[in-house]
Amino acid sequence: MLNHVSIGVRSLPAAKRFYEATLTALGVARHVKSGVDVRAAGLRGAPQPLRFYQSAEGHSCARKAVELLGFGSDAIRIVPAMGDYRMDAGALDRAIAEDVAAGMRPIAVVASAGTVNTGAIDPLDEIADVCARHNVWLHVDAAYGGPAILTDEYRAQLAPVARADSVALDPHKWMFVPVEAGFVLVRDGEAMRAAYSLVPPYIRTRGSSSAVMGLPWFSEYGFQQSRGFRALKVWMTMKQFGLAGHRAAVEQNVALARYLADRVRESRDLELVASGLSVVCFRYTVSEASEASEVSEVSEASEASDTLNAINRRLLERLQLGGEAFLSSTELGGRFVLRACIVNYLSAREDIDRMLDAVLRIGAELSRRESGV
Ligand SMILES: Cc1ncc(COP(=O)(O)O)c(C=O)c1O
Repeated sequence: MLNHVSIGVRSLPAAKRFYEATLTALGVARHVKSGVDVRAAGLRGAPQPLRFYQSAEGHSCARKAVELLGFGSDAIRIVPAMGDYRMDAGALDRAIAEDVAAGMRPIAVVASAGTVNTGAIDPLDEIADVCARHNVWLHVDAAYGGPAILTDEYRAQLAPVARADSVALDPHKWMFVPVEAGFVLVRDGEAMRAAYSLVPPYIRTRGSSSAVMGLPWFSEYGFQQSRGFRALKVWMTMKQFGLAGHRAAVEQNVALARYLADRVRESRDLELVASGLSVVCFRYTVSEASEASEVSEVSEASEASDTLNAINRRLLERLQLGGEAFLSSTELGGRFVLRACIVNYLSAREDIDRMLDAVLRIGAELSRRESGV
């Protein structure tokens, strides 16, 4: 239903990377779960310390939202991720139980339907069970991975998104919409309205949905008052792709990521560190022959790792400044890695090949320099 949907709530012009859809959703969670009339009394009226839960791999937009909503980032308990970078639902369950026993009040869990680092999909069904058991709001960050639900491969894994109380999605990622547009869905439209609605006489109308400027006001469903027509570009892009076209583009991106991961595995100079959805994290390594001359036998493993981190950092810098290809980066288990996230429907194998050629060429140059050859 339209009034359960708020499209394009990102609008603060000075906040370029700020994820207002998350803020909007967690604002509703605050209203519903704080145990206080938060609109009137503010959080100082809350009877207990309040808690949010997110995995170590969760995106920082949740922390920004929690900070801005006045909880403070200390209110977030980081739940460990498992070896495959997915949230450990058992650890979440124990953490919530522990906090409740200590007199705290859990507000919301922020789960990921495709993490920013590695494209990992949290065990959404198990997390939804935990939330239901403890009566905690479930917010799913589907910013990047959400559209993979269109594919046969990921449909079942992402289906439990339907159990969330709120979902945020970035159309400018895997919906191919020009930057920027955010999208938030809140299950309980009345709760959303209760959290935000403020209709003073100067904008009040007779409330006929057929009348010009009749209710509901979009401003009743979020903190933005006047708003631009971001929904138009989202709508037009959806119309242009169609469901089948969108599905095909997402599938093609996933296939391309597999191709990249395979090529990385085959190369003796590259190491595949993690891969999920259309994300591939890898790094340049120093192949055995040159490694023997470069890393002395007595040197500590950590020194070798520092060297590789340094080489990959410089490699990325040169790649980005050179303009041949664009990769981003992240850190996984203390390792600096190159990160490809393929969300362009025009990307093709040739682009992957050219990018890898450039990575291998720059990597070889840097490691030769490092070893003084
Ligand atoms: C999983 C996830 N959540 C949230 C965000 C934040 O999105 P934005 O930069 O559009 O605010 C990103 C961005 O990469 C992301 O990958």
